[in-house]
Amino acid sequence: MAKRVAVIGAGPSGLAQLRAFQSAEAGGADIPEVVCYEKQADWGGLWNYTWRTGLDEYGEPVHCSMYRYLWSNGPKEGLEFADYSFEEHFGRQIASYPPREVLFDYIAGRARQAGVRDWIRFLTPVRRVSHDSASGQFRVIAHDLAKDEEYGEDFDHVIVATGHFSTPNVPHFDGLDEFNGRVMHAHDFRDAVEFKDKDILIIGTSYSAEDIGSQCWKYGCKSVTASHRTAPMGYDWPDNWKEVPLLQTVAGNTCTFKDGSTADVDAIILCTGYLHHFPFMAPELCLKTANRLATADLYKGVVWVDNPQLFYLGMQDQWYTFSMFDAQAWFVRDIVLGRIAVPDRAARAADVADREAREDAIEDDYAAIRYQGDYIRELIADTDYPSFDVDRTDEAFFEWKKFKKQGIMSYRDHGHRSAMTGTAAPVHHTSWVEEMDDSMESYLRQE
Ligand SMILES: Cc1cc2nc3c(=O)[nH]c(=O)nc-3n(C[C@H](O)[C@H](O)[C@H](O)COP(=O)(O)OP(=O)(O)OC[C@H]3O[C@@H](n4cnc5c(N)ncnc54)[C@H](O)[C@@H]3O)c2cc1C
Ligand SMILES: NC(=O)c1ccc[n+]([C@@H]2O[C@H](COP(=O)([O-])OP(=O)(O)OC[C@H]3O[C@@H](n4cnc5c(N)ncnc54)[C@H](OP(=O)(O)O)[C@@H]3O)[C@@H](O)[C@H]2O)c1
Repeated sequence: MAKRVAVIGAGPSGLAQLRAFQSAEAGGADIPEVVCYEKQADWGGLWNYTWRTGLDEYGEPVHCSMYRYLWSNGPKEGLEFADYSFEEHFGRQIASYPPREVLFDYIAGRARQAGVRDWIRFLTPVRRVSHDSASGQFRVIAHDLAKDEEYGEDFDHVIVATGHFSTPNVPHFDGLDEFNGRVMHAHDFRDAVEFKDKDILIIGTSYSAEDIGSQCWKYGCKSVTASHRTAPMGYDWPDNWKEVPLLQTVAGNTCTFKDGSTADVDAIILCTGYLHHFPFMAPELCLKTANRLATADLYKGVVWVDNPQLFYLGMQDQWYTFSMFDAQAWFVRDIVLGRIAVPDRAARAADVADREAREDAIEDDYAAIRYQGDYIRELIADTDYPSFDVDRTDEAFFEWKKFKKQGIMSYRDHGHRSAMTGTAAPVHHTSWVEEMDDSMESYLRQE
């Protein structure tokens, strides 16, 4: 097959795409030439931890938004690959909320087994993607950072898998420019120990707010004040944690909130989310969407409505992660291989409108989880991705939500059952609150 396919990014989504093509090839299919561009020196995307913040050694924006001591914030049973279980990777079932290093190892394990590392050009950010309607091809301009050389190549398909939790959304609050402490976005947070004995203010109520606040609490901060724009998180927080309405002004170290209350703090951490940011895409190819389950302008959540040769992976807000990226990657692969037909533009746009309307009608988080589970089921029905019990996986998420409500600092002490192997996870040897060592060695220790 003479076709050429560019995959941009070698995080979980991009690696899912490489694995999808490799598995077709292993099954005897004639696959296109696949070139994967990755701006970091290694694969794994956000899971590839670095201490760096701001710009890296090449002057590129640092991609990593993860931090030390990060453990999975959802059950691993909700993200397990259907073609590569945790038991296959680790040789036994492991506990349900692994730290970052353990999940990085799992992601890398499948990619290594697939033998796709040679398909990836590391240290090579894509600078520009444009489309030539005369030739029907995409021009991809990339930068080889090691050689400091830019070059261009043509492709029949482009698959964008650069993630959307790396470019921070940074709102302004009056008085921040004169604040006497540290102001940072969650993207730059690395080590909770920095905030030991400090009073911290967290802005936001989603997963970064909840988890960064919890990390700081666990590693000994003096107090957490969490400020919300829409509604408080509402968990049963420890005594030195309070929830307040949105920050209005800062004067010196004193923060004033919408209800007139105040707090003196040493640091402000903006857990205010991320932007879908694709500065390398030509304007007519550039995805602009809110962080939601039904992304704008993507037929079946992956095919660019205006040009079905272009795909985006993993652009949805995420309950499901790795298995959703797999479902998408197998589906995109089969479009590229001509196994799945894409309908005309009007039908593609109608599909997006239908997904948006169904998402807008969702009433609670449980329905949102089912919506995303159903989406995965829909995609894998059309491919040879191993089918799995999505209802069982939805259940793992429901149990997780229940455990969080029971104890926000103890939900990671529970185990769930794998939909892939049917095995129940053991309870981890040490409770999350007491476990200060997040190394893989410590997590995998059997007692
Ligand atoms: C703090 C944090 C914690 C998280 N914790 C969890 C968790 O516990 N469980 C879970 O399931 N999910 C978690 N997630 C969600 C996360 O989005 C997914 O797990 C997953 O990393 C998404 O994979 P991706 O490949 O789509 O994107 P990413 O992981 O962001 O990977 C994108 C890749 O594209 C590369 N890239 C970017 N721009 C370019 C360019 N111009 N040219 C070439 N390469 C480029 C990047 O270097 C990167 O390697 C977390 C996210 C954050 C921010
Ligand atoms: N493994 C882990 O432990 C872990 C840790 C952190 C993050 N994550 C993952 O990282 C991803 C991103 O999560 P996230 O929490 O960073 O982003 P997010 O889910 O998009 O949430 C953004 C938050 O910012 C708030 N916000 C946005 N603009 C604001 C403004 N101008 N003023 C006040 N508040 C504002 C939003 O409030 P409104 O509700 O008012 O809009 C919302 O609470 C998720 O997939 C999550 O699972 C995982």
